[in-house]
Amino acid sequence: MRVVESKADLQQQIRQWRHDGDHIAIVPTMGNLHAGHISLVKLAQDYAERVVVTLFVNPTQFAEGEDFEDYPRSRESDSMRLKKIGADLLFAPDVATVYPFGIENATTISVPGLTENFCGASRPGHFHGVTTVVARLFFLVRPDVAVFGQKDYQQQLIIRRMIDDLALPIRVITVPTVREDDGLAMSSRNAYLSDVERAVAPVLYSALREIGARLKNGRRDYEALEEKAWAALSDAGFKPEYVAIRRALDLSVPDRHCDELVVLAAAHLGRARLIDNVVVTV
Ligand code: PAJ
Repeated sequence: MRVVESKADLQQQIRQWRHDGDHIAIVPTMGNLHAGHISLVKLAQDYAERVVVTLFVNPTQFAEGEDFEDYPRSRESDSMRLKKIGADLLFAPDVATVYPFGIENATTISVPGLTENFCGASRPGHFHGVTTVVARLFFLVRPDVAVFGQKDYQQQLIIRRMIDDLALPIRVITVPTVREDDGLAMSSRNAYLSDVERAVAPVLYSALREIGARLKNGRRDYEALEEKAWAALSDAGFKPEYVAIRRALDLSVPDRHCDELVVLAAAHLGRARLIDNVVVTV
């Protein structure tokens, strides 16, 4: 596996692969890789001859006061894990490579609408930073396929919309959430949980699954279901930010006949802000 930091080295390698007729998949990450990221890379290998993993802790998607400085960084062990599973290239640029004219002068990309609710409401500017950096990574790598996790449901939906809207020739693959044995979705931010909080954390997924089971049983009183889950989370010690049953396709409010639903939630537990979701076909 090659590790490259510069645009010139990246593009020389991409040109070579294109010349050989290889397809390219990109797996964008902020590093500190866990089994969730690894499953993205493995799936990417089914869709393209070459897999590029990007490692970039993107400053523009962190709001003032968020954990940009503290975000866990572990490039050596990340690179070892990727090598072991046969990724072809790790692109680990610095800020000046991704934003050559500086962050203040950067051309930006925003997706309106889909970015305004849920994580977009509590983290203003977050998705603006995500779409801006992902578009830049797409332009640098020019992939055929891009792989994202279902864990960040709203994020993958926004990226799909950006690709559609800009007619980028990129196929998006969304990979199911990889979980710990007790159901907690794997996340770099789980490291912020104390032992006591870690024991409580799986309640988030069980609350979502319970809503899922009730929807499957025919319940359509969405608001009552959301309120019940909110109460269960509060009782367990979470500070819920949102719990919502939405149309899976576009996060709009579903009518009673909608059969593809997603149940999304974000909740704070101690220092950690956890998000999770389940998709339900009813
Ligand atoms: P990061 O949080 O590092 O996540 C990288 C990718 O891994 C995302 O597509 C995310 O949805 C996926 N992922 C994280 N945890 C997962 C899990 N438990 N199971 C399956 N997939 C999981 O998301 C970002 O970085 C950034 O916003 C990024 C897209 C790289 C732009 O900076």
